[in-house]
Amino acid sequence: MDNSKDLNAYILSQRLNYGKEFSDTYSNYDNPFTLFGEWFQLAMNEGSGEPHAMNLATATSTFHVSSRIVLLRDFTEQGFSFFTNYQSKKGQDLLSQKNCALNFYWHNIEKQVRIEGFAEKVSTTESDDYFATRPRESQIGAWASAQSENLESRDMLHNKISELEKRYTDMPVPRPPHWGGFRVVPNYFEFWQGRESRLHDRLAFTLTDDETWTRQVLQP
Ligand SMILES: Cc1cc2nc3c(=O)[nH]c(=O)nc-3n(C[C@H](O)[C@H](O)[C@H](O)COP(=O)(O)O)c2cc1C
Repeated sequence: MDNSKDLNAYILSQRLNYGKEFSDTYSNYDNPFTLFGEWFQLAMNEGSGEPHAMNLATATSTFHVSSRIVLLRDFTEQGFSFFTNYQSKKGQDLLSQKNCALNFYWHNIEKQVRIEGFAEKVSTTESDDYFATRPRESQIGAWASAQSENLESRDMLHNKISELEKRYTDMPVPRPPHWGGFRVVPNYFEFWQGRESRLHDRLAFTLTDDETWTRQVLQP
């Protein structure tokens, strides 16, 4: 890599002093979903690009960990939902080992939310309803792509798409049985906001056995 020296010099020179968006009311919240909603709204209002893009970390049953970005499609006190191919790497991970973690980072407001919990499949009705709202090309794509498997050629993918377009001419595209939603049901949240001199605020919420949330302030 020819430019690694320049890139590393650049990386080393970067030292943002956080603290411009910090709010001191955040520690008054006792429901993490409410605080999540407030911060999400703030990220949205301040023009964060795709504030609903979240990192999803999964693991196999033998503890091989991986992560990727997915798009949040719905959040309620029941959990955080996203849609994917159940046969993809993440899908296989979550079906065999349901513990997982989400991470939202909103650079524009210098805030991060970490969530830990377990994933469950959303109902087939929820998956059907969401699938029906997707553009037709994405619906066809969900049939055409065996997500995370080896792609022999881009042409093969396009041929598959043409075949599927013919098959579903003048009719709605049904949801593939291997495509649908997962809901991440949280048992832990951590709200981080950048403060000056790296003395950041960290507020954690842990779900107790009696289904209430306890709060804890963590060292930066
Ligand atoms: C901004 C962004 C949004 C994405 N949204 C999704 C999504 O909602 N669902 C999905 O399956 N993949 C989504 N992806 C692609 C995943 O990051 C990933 O490449 C893909 O799901 C395969 O992951 P896997 O092999 O670990 O299963 C998105 C990627 C980016 C960068």
